[in-house]
Amino acid sequence: MENISLFKIFDERNQLWEDFRKRNLTQEFELISISKFTSNRRVFTNGKRVFKVNYVGSNKNEYKKSKLINEYEILIRLNDKINFNPLYKTVEPGWEVLEMKLLKGETLFSLMQHNILNKISLFVLVKSLWMLSKRGICHGDLSLENIILTESKEICFFDYEDSSHTGIINALFCNLFAISPNKVHDFCLMTILNAYFSEESGFSRKLFRVVYWIYTKARNLVNRILIVKRINIKINNISTIGMDNDSPSYEKIAKLTKAWEIASDSDANSPGESIAYYAIDFNNQKFFGERPWELRWLAIKGKIKVENKKFLEMGCNMGLLSIFLKNEGAISCTAVDHDKKILESAKLISEAFQVQDITFLDIDFDVDPGWELKIDGHDIVSCLSVINWVKDKERLLNFLGKHNELLFEGHDSYEMEVVRLKKIGFKNFQILMKSERGRELIWATK
Ligand SMILES: C[S@@+](CC[C@H](N)C(=O)[O-])C[C@H]1O[C@@H](n2cnc3c(N)ncnc32)[C@H](O)[C@@H]1O
Repeated sequence: MENISLFKIFDERNQLWEDFRKRNLTQEFELISISKFTSNRRVFTNGKRVFKVNYVGSNKNEYKKSKLINEYEILIRLNDKINFNPLYKTVEPGWEVLEMKLLKGETLFSLMQHNILNKISLFVLVKSLWMLSKRGICHGDLSLENIILTESKEICFFDYEDSSHTGIINALFCNLFAISPNKVHDFCLMTILNAYFSEESGFSRKLFRVVYWIYTKARNLVNRILIVKRINIKINNISTIGMDNDSPSYEKIAKLTKAWEIASDSDANSPGESIAYYAIDFNNQKFFGERPWELRWLAIKGKIKVENKKFLEMGCNMGLLSIFLKNEGAISCTAVDHDKKILESAKLISEAFQVQDITFLDIDFDVDPGWELKIDGHDIVSCLSVINWVKDKERLLNFLGKHNELLFEGHDSYEMEVVRLKKIGFKNFQILMKSERGRELIWATK
């Protein structure tokens, strides 16, 4: 790997996708998702059909173990239960497409966020997982974004890229407990219940915490015994894939590896889960997380003008927005979070990207008495998925209202967020994207 800029990898890849899109998809198709595992798999929809596109380039091995063929085979197996009406084709050399029906409904993520996921739906979920397991299907990525409650109150799973067809017992262990002899899984029924009970209060929450603690220890132990070989392979990959130990590229990747380890360990992400907030992909090197950074970035890049402006990122987590906007020409960026570990991770990432002039500040908006004065005087402010976590929301909103340009993502509906932002003086609103979590990314100006 030569020492090229990490930004350049992003730009070249996105140009490749833009060209493919122009050649093969009509205007009405919008990008709705990028895989957390690789930026080479993206999902587009025209509101009726879903087009999952995989770029395999000239790598013939990729075809052999193609995730899309895998998913296609699983969808065919499920055909009598849910008719996805799947079609698999290679549209151009190097580009394969899995086309299927778009499922309509609300994701469990969105239901949970709006506190409308109830025990009845959880019961239906368990029943549906039993049905899936009975067919010997291990889903492999049961995150809340991959499960839908349809209008007819049925639970449906999608995104079967990492699924496998196996025996009932294996499938049950995989779907319920993320225990599997073949793969390391992160999401299963237990992680869904953990997210659900974290939102509850009182005894049930405390009881589940204990259950979940015992479960994670047991799962890690069993998985470690089962997958000892795989872990060794993973460690070797990090230190050797196409890299020379003395090259700056190696240094960058080593910094990112460290940063992702710290982020996975921090409490600034899903409570109790050992996973970083953002996933990022540099072709040969992939860093896993809850959400793909590139999807977020593509919605923002070029839409807001940062040249010669001072940018403030509130609740910055891994600081990626500040890093990318600094590269787009912001005079300075200030990135603020109350989690020391995540700030350490953000600093390492900015070093890997070789971006200077970012000030990282450790501030808690609920505890620090005069935090407003410490971060006064910026032109553009961002507050993405932060307000929900802060107790004194009025104070935070009043501070946001001092700025002329705001990038905002809340947890409520677009209409409710607009009412909120109008109260603090914003007049013009533009939706930059609806995220894979069903939230609008809003660009607000005065
Ligand atoms: C869900 S993450 C969002 C990350 C980032 N803004 C994004 O969406 O790309 C929320 C972040 O806000 C930070 N945060 C939560 N409460 C905070 C507080 N009271 N003061 C400062 N930061 C806080 C968390 O540590 C976490 O990094």
